[in-house]
Amino acid sequence: MRAATGAGTLSRTTGTLMRTTWTFSSAGQIIFGLDAVDQLADVLRRLKLDRVLVVTDAKLVSAGLVDRLTRAAQKAATLDIFAGGEPEPSLKAADAAIAHAREFRPGGVIGLGGGSNMDLAKMTAAVLANGGTPRDYLGEDKVPGPTLPLVCVPTTSGTGSEVSASSVFTDQENHLKVGAMSNYLRPAVAIVDPRLTVSCPRQVTADSGIDALTHAIEAFTAVDNAEFPLPPGEMSLYQGRHPLGDCLAEKAIKVIGENLPIAVEQPNNLAAREAMSLGAMLAGLAFSNVGVALVHALEYPIGGATHCSHGAGNGMLLPYVMRYNLPARERELARVAELLGADVRGLSQHDAALGAVQTVEELNRRIGIPARLSELGARREQIPQFAEKALGIARLIRVNPRKPTTVEMVELLESAY
Ligand SMILES: NC(=O)c1ccc[n+]([C@@H]2O[C@H](COP(=O)([O-])OP(=O)(O)OC[C@H]3O[C@@H](n4cnc5c(N)ncnc54)[C@H](O)[C@@H]3O)[C@@H](O)[C@H]2O)c1
Ligand SMILES: [Zn+2]
Repeated sequence: MRAATGAGTLSRTTGTLMRTTWTFSSAGQIIFGLDAVDQLADVLRRLKLDRVLVVTDAKLVSAGLVDRLTRAAQKAATLDIFAGGEPEPSLKAADAAIAHAREFRPGGVIGLGGGSNMDLAKMTAAVLANGGTPRDYLGEDKVPGPTLPLVCVPTTSGTGSEVSASSVFTDQENHLKVGAMSNYLRPAVAIVDPRLTVSCPRQVTADSGIDALTHAIEAFTAVDNAEFPLPPGEMSLYQGRHPLGDCLAEKAIKVIGENLPIAVEQPNNLAAREAMSLGAMLAGLAFSNVGVALVHALEYPIGGATHCSHGAGNGMLLPYVMRYNLPARERELARVAELLGADVRGLSQHDAALGAVQTVEELNRRIGIPARLSELGARREQIPQFAEKALGIARLIRVNPRKPTTVEMVELLESAY
């Protein structure tokens, strides 16, 4: 039973405000395609940027990608390179990038790399424009205003950070991944050039690719927008499932399912790389509006403790969480099976949904994602604290179609150990 209010609908049973409208946000502009990076000088001129900091890392310098970007940009702007990025960056890396940037005083920031460097660039651009420290901006909607103009250029096909509202860090003191979420963190321009992903090592392709699939599946199986449980007085960038999110997530699941194994096994296959760049970006557009859920909530403490890559942690957890969510999302998971190319003819909806779980397990095996929590380096006695920390991440848990209890979370992790 619901009673209408001005801003939404109040559930009579729970007293929480239910959403009745949805919105969609993205990067200001997306430039997509092979050699799209050649348009960087035009982009910088349009943004009126003639002094720009590039946030990247040493591996991308060695891979020649920083040179590639510099050649494309230098006609328009003076560049300074901060190459202190690192995988799953610590808050200290953010402090270092910000200190470097304050010396150079750029008008804008370019993030070149995987999610790690793009997130570092986003936080740097936010702190330079608004003051404070990265810690001030962790959580939901804490960034007080626009960032310095920000251009993100992904070199993995995974996180969707080039269009998303998040910036994720490792909090080494508390052994947890932490994030800032704000629509101000969406880049002004995303330049998605699949050619820049060709040099990705096999495991980076696999890990970032399965992260993208996780984004799409978590968005497609999220709680419905109309049922999104938001306590009074709280806001959320995530809004639950809505029709535009579904379009993007379905296409992403199909494209990633078809192309991820090819991109892993044939790194120079440009068609597969292009499809993966598209799939990861579509998944980013979906999840950054609809939300990600239990897989990501569990990966935050597990990644914080084991230092596995975000993608490897998510990929390992994904089939276990799909199985847990199956009673609430049978129809959607049966559709996921179809999208992933499983033969579901003649199967009941329940068996087709189980087919989606099995197809993801097979995909994981094929691309080298660990099947068990123990393989990530977790200790069994850590399970209760993983469960407790994950349950504490309300912004992700509320997106999940089933509300897990502590006992269920421990059971899920025990079954995955
Ligand atoms: N902001 C978001 O919306 C969002 C979403 C999901 C994940 N994340 C975060 O993103 C990070 C993971 O990002 P990722 O999966 O893209 O990997 P990554 O950025 O951590 O990169 C992994 C490694 O691959 C190297 N690499 C990247 N591209 C390369 C290329 N083309 N050639 C050679 N080497 C290359 C990097 O130098 C790095 O050493 C995590 O911190 C995760 O929490 C952010
Ligand atoms: Zn992710």
